[in-house]
Amino acid sequence: MSKNILIISTSLRFNSNSDLLAQSFEKGALEAGHLVERVTLRDKTIQFCKGCLSCVKTQKCVIHDDVNEIVDKMKEANVLVFSTPIYYYEMCGQMKTLLDRANPLFNADYKFRDIYFIASAAENGDHVWAKAVNGLEGWIDCFEKSHLSGVVFAGGVTDPGEIQGHQSLKRAFEMGKNIRQERRYSMKTMDKKVFDEQNVFGLGQPNDAFAQYFIGNSYLNGLTNPKECGLALANVTFEPGCRNNWHIHHATSGGGQILICTAGVGWYQEEGKDPVELKPGVVVVIPPEVKHWHGAKKDSWFSHIAFEAPGENTSNEWCEPVDDEAYLAL
Ligand SMILES: Cc1cc2nc3c(=O)[nH]c(=O)nc-3n(C[C@H](O)[C@H](O)[C@H](O)COP(=O)(O)O)c2cc1C
Repeated sequence: MSKNILIISTSLRFNSNSDLLAQSFEKGALEAGHLVERVTLRDKTIQFCKGCLSCVKTQKCVIHDDVNEIVDKMKEANVLVFSTPIYYYEMCGQMKTLLDRANPLFNADYKFRDIYFIASAAENGDHVWAKAVNGLEGWIDCFEKSHLSGVVFAGGVTDPGEIQGHQSLKRAFEMGKNIRQERRYSMKTMDKKVFDEQNVFGLGQPNDAFAQYFIGNSYLNGLTNPKECGLALANVTFEPGCRNNWHIHHATSGGGQILICTAGVGWYQEEGKDPVELKPGVVVVIPPEVKHWHGAKKDSWFSHIAFEAPGENTSNEWCEPVDDEAYLAL
């Protein structure tokens, strides 16, 4: 599915290095079939946020300048890309002002989920852009449905256009081209509404029958009628922090359980082994007689389809809960 991508290029100079990076990102995204709009702040009038906070109630800014149109576009985009020159190891002032002025979006039904950061600077090294990304992440933290999906940095470029031939241009192109793939693998979310969109096999009902063997709330959505097809498939959803107790699937032959991860991110752990990250597309074959647990990460909803592998004399042994300290340290 193509995405609506808004690239905001914040350098004010002509033949800007960070803008050339943004243009490469744009070419990659267009090649992948996305809808892309690139706006530059070069010709825009932008005033500082006054801090009146009336936008929290009205979702409109009291200042009437060129920001309002950009903020409207930000609200509708699925992907936001910010490009900036590094100024004193930070994002440039006009980008920071734009982020402040985007405050009317705070309570709004904004659509952006993936955010990319693009920067250029005279010096090389991670320390040159780290504080700028940190600043942007502060903003992203306040827009909980979104997350930082990628960073491209070009160091060692000072004069306008000096970036020509720089390897970072290719990286920006590839990042633009691969937006869809990255999105598929970043489904961690605390936001129930966002998770519900991902959880295509449905939440179902509270899992009351097994609640005593779970920490936190889980839900069960039966997908098949075992009387008709002989196999009971159910989508199991775990709220953030929810996991089942250690347990063992017994069988005299065959048996065990299969998990097909469908939404969000979680954990699976066998006794004596390191935990394995669960995300959509991962399939776990749990052998019989192996003590294990599974559930959500502490900071994400998670769901998987579960079904018992056919076997003889199958039964389930529930053991102790997963230790809080060990779980929270994951
Ligand atoms: C006010 C100002 C501050 C700057 N601070 C830094 C800095 O802290 N570190 C750095 O490596 N380059 C710094 N630079 C250089 C720019 O980051 C560099 O020229 C960059 O490529 C400009 O990007 P642009 O062409 O997209 O505007 C600074 C430039 C200016 C004008």
